[in-house]
Amino acid sequence: MQLVPVIAIDGPSASGKGTVAQRVAEALGFHYLDSGALYRLTALAAVRRGVSWDDEAGVAGVAATLDARFDGDRIVLDERDASSAIRSEDIGVGASRVAALPAVRAALLQRQRGYARMPGLVADGRDMGSVVFPEAQLKVFLTASAAVRAERRYKQLAGRGEQADLAAITADLEARDARDRARTVAPLAQQPDARLLDTDGLGVEAAVEQVLAWWRERG
Ligand code: DC
Repeated sequence: MQLVPVIAIDGPSASGKGTVAQRVAEALGFHYLDSGALYRLTALAAVRRGVSWDDEAGVAGVAATLDARFDGDRIVLDERDASSAIRSEDIGVGASRVAALPAVRAALLQRQRGYARMPGLVADGRDMGSVVFPEAQLKVFLTASAAVRAERRYKQLAGRGEQADLAAITADLEARDARDRARTVAPLAQQPDARLLDTDGLGVEAAVEQVLAWWRERG
């Protein structure tokens, strides 16, 4: 068992796991790690440095030397605010591409583990419970149907005033899920020891409450 308490929340894109993980962290006074942001930052930094997303050694080099930090709600890359730049659909696709490269995942591993600090950590991603924090005290696999997730992403984009097309979003989500599940390293999958939280028809509050209830159950 690791000394620092860790809650690992994994699941597919747009399942709402980021929002739930953040709220659980707030409720418990724990630190929060958005591991997807690290893959997104890597994809963005690669573009800025002129490194192609399929150049494994090149992108791993970018990941290993990533000058990025989480500063409250802001995500800073090379001393510039990259919070919205990393949320574009294009960078999402890039993140999924670079995340399939073993050397890139290896380059980000220790960095992710470094976020486990007292009094505890809530980490969300695809392999928090399987690879990064296999000894997490609580593992949750948070999911929702593709239709519900596409709808949530659509509202998110529309809310930011970005152009959004529901059919394109659904197709993109499905393609990204397929890539995340099919890759040979750390594929997206529910761990045998993870609790399943299906959020179709479940609001954020109820999802947060469920995770907190599981956490209390663990004592
Ligand atoms: O959660 P997200 O959409 O911000 O993640 C972006 C991409 O990064 C996603 O396609 C999968 C990948 N990812 C990963 O492979 N492992 C993680 N722990 C987190 C994200």
